[in-house]
Amino acid sequence: MKYFFWICLLSILSISCSQLDNDTISKRSIIPEPQELQYHDGVFVFDGSTTIFTESEFKIASHFLRKYIEENVGWSPKEVTKDQATIVIEKSDGVPNEGYEMTISEEKIHIKASDPSGAFYAMQTLRQLLPDYLEATTRSDLMLFKIPTLSIKDAPAFRYRGMHLDVGRHFFDKEFIKEYISYLSMLKMNYFHWHLTEDQGWRIEILQYPNLIKHGAYREETLMGHYNDTPQQFDGKRYGGYYTQEDIKEVVAFAKAHNVTIIPEIEMPGHAQAAISAYPELGCTGEQVPVATKWGVFENVYCPKEETFTFLKNVLSEVMELFPGEYIHIGGDEAPKSHWKNCDDCQQLIKELGLKDEHELQSYFIKEIETFVNSKGKKIIGWDEILEGGLAPNATVMSWRGTQGAVSAAKEGHDVILTPTSHSYFDYYQADHSDEPLAIGGFLPLKKVYGFNPIPKELTNEESRFVLGAQGNVWTEYMPTEEQVEYMAFPRMLAMSEVVWSGPTEDIEKDYPGFLSRVEEFLPRMDALGINYANHLYDVTGEVIKRNDSIFYTLKTSLPKKQIGYSLNSEKETIRYSQPIPITENTEIKASVILSDTAHARVHTTRIRYHKGVESTISLNVPPHAAYSAGDKEALINGISGSNTRYGDKEWLGFWGDDLEISIDLKHTKEVSKVYTRFFHAPGQWIYSPKEIELWATNDGNTPVKVPFQSQLTEKGNLYFYELTLLEKPSNYYGTLILKVPNFGMIPKGKQGEGNKAWTFIDEIIVE
Ligand code: ACM
Ligand code: ZN
Repeated sequence: MKYFFWICLLSILSISCSQLDNDTISKRSIIPEPQELQYHDGVFVFDGSTTIFTESEFKIASHFLRKYIEENVGWSPKEVTKDQATIVIEKSDGVPNEGYEMTISEEKIHIKASDPSGAFYAMQTLRQLLPDYLEATTRSDLMLFKIPTLSIKDAPAFRYRGMHLDVGRHFFDKEFIKEYISYLSMLKMNYFHWHLTEDQGWRIEILQYPNLIKHGAYREETLMGHYNDTPQQFDGKRYGGYYTQEDIKEVVAFAKAHNVTIIPEIEMPGHAQAAISAYPELGCTGEQVPVATKWGVFENVYCPKEETFTFLKNVLSEVMELFPGEYIHIGGDEAPKSHWKNCDDCQQLIKELGLKDEHELQSYFIKEIETFVNSKGKKIIGWDEILEGGLAPNATVMSWRGTQGAVSAAKEGHDVILTPTSHSYFDYYQADHSDEPLAIGGFLPLKKVYGFNPIPKELTNEESRFVLGAQGNVWTEYMPTEEQVEYMAFPRMLAMSEVVWSGPTEDIEKDYPGFLSRVEEFLPRMDALGINYANHLYDVTGEVIKRNDSIFYTLKTSLPKKQIGYSLNSEKETIRYSQPIPITENTEIKASVILSDTAHARVHTTRIRYHKGVESTISLNVPPHAAYSAGDKEALINGISGSNTRYGDKEWLGFWGDDLEISIDLKHTKEVSKVYTRFFHAPGQWIYSPKEIELWATNDGNTPVKVPFQSQLTEKGNLYFYELTLLEKPSNYYGTLILKVPNFGMIPKGKQGEGNKAWTFIDEIIVE
């Protein structure tokens, strides 16, 4: 050791000691980041002579480690007495719940924990200190591994650290579920919320009601493409699957060995069409309905009558028998009340019970179920709709429609779990590239997940103690395969694990680059595990900027300290990016991060059309809607056109119901012969192209006059192009152009959103 120390000290080159020193290895990325971590000099050698001692109540930890090593290299540390062992896991009451302290010296790995969870999490940290390739290969020729010496003190910020998976919309077999659970446990998450029943399929065998799987686990076909596509199309293929009770027991045992508690969700009273399809008497109409074949919210809900409660209590009894955890999730979300309104028995029940309306009837429904679940020694969790009509006395609320449900419930003294769509819905898009796989919509990039704070600002310190933690939700309407689930869940699950374990960041701009570096180091581990993660770490983004009337294009990477290379106009030469690129003519820029493994680099291509508007200044009579203003008004004259398919990018601007007046100040009087622009037209999404547009202009600050022009409208799918050709030659010299874009107006009868104002989405305004 000393020898290498002196080499390092004497070295005047900036080569790091770890490169010189065979006895030091590079630091490793640990996700979620431990609370306190100090690296020391030297290494601990992990080999055939490594032995382990575990306090008997902490066997979950040594079992995991020995099995992990054994499976990957064919040998594992022998269990010996405490004084002989090189890895000692012992009990110490001073360590916080689920926390651990770990000291790795050259001779010994010493771990202290006060409970089995903490001991187990120490093993997950140790695993991440071992080489990545251990995750994948059986290489019994490998006899030793070096791990860095260090000290860690670690404990979770929140006691509920969860991930959800919807197996109703698409079914994933038990092997995949076990894999998913193993990933949670690697990231020190402790709850798996298993969404087992849906309109589109019932997935859990219930012995007393065989039709639930025989009939309810299969649908006749499935919607293809996006729900908003017109017309909707179906694949014509029968689809389904379910877990037997034996499968469930196997998964439960696996979860237990991985320190994960499963929360089964049995949805009620809504999202129950598959069950009602299997047993039509559970609905209010008694009508035979199919297992749903498309997504959405369905009117067929459980009818609050005696036989429904008997059914649900019998189902829940079997479920509670199978799952040892204390929580049962009973759903409660998105339950339309129309069938209850039109049902004599329901209305009679409302009268008898002295309830105000159908919301109070839902509250009665949930309270009935809660009383039953509590009588078996378990607790219910429900989505935030269970607040409507009055909260069941002991319920925990899962807040998904924003954080308001959590705020209200915590103020009433109820436990809450945060899963707001804004930060927790991993079914939303994570990048705005046009080649992202089809998703439900929305936009939740990695950075936003990382920046999540599960404690709503509205809560006092006292009230915030009811916040158990947070969870990422994976709804699978648009995830037909395991690969797609992994793509949407990773790396956002890594960010969520840091939120709930390491604690929310207090300064995202300071902390996020460090997180990204940890994620980058974690990629080989995920590769070895075979996880099909999304990789946007090496994305390049660009922006047109103006400086003293000149135009430049700037490039940026999300990971700090990465070199960007670019080429211009299909030239072969790659230039290292060091400063904004001057733009003086039509230019195509191709840029990417310079990586040794080019497979990961995504090429960012931008075409800048250097039209007469690019050097202008622009003003709008109304600002764009906050949700669709990413590029601000400048996006309309930056020379860059938006996506042909996605109006949510930073080139399109969206306005809701406004008549627009867009002024483009050309600075000097210029000859203008044509003005082009395009609008998005997607009636299914309330978006309409204007019926007409007008061009007005001034010459030298005079009152604007309408310009004579010929207008041509070309419709191509969702895109409506307007081309205005100016007529009055040669006097078509103008100083300021004013494009008037009247809103389409009210959405007509029979269309989605009828009677509401239409949206206008406009792209680049090209001036020639
Ligand atoms: C939900 O997303 N319907 C809970
Ligand atoms: Zn643009």
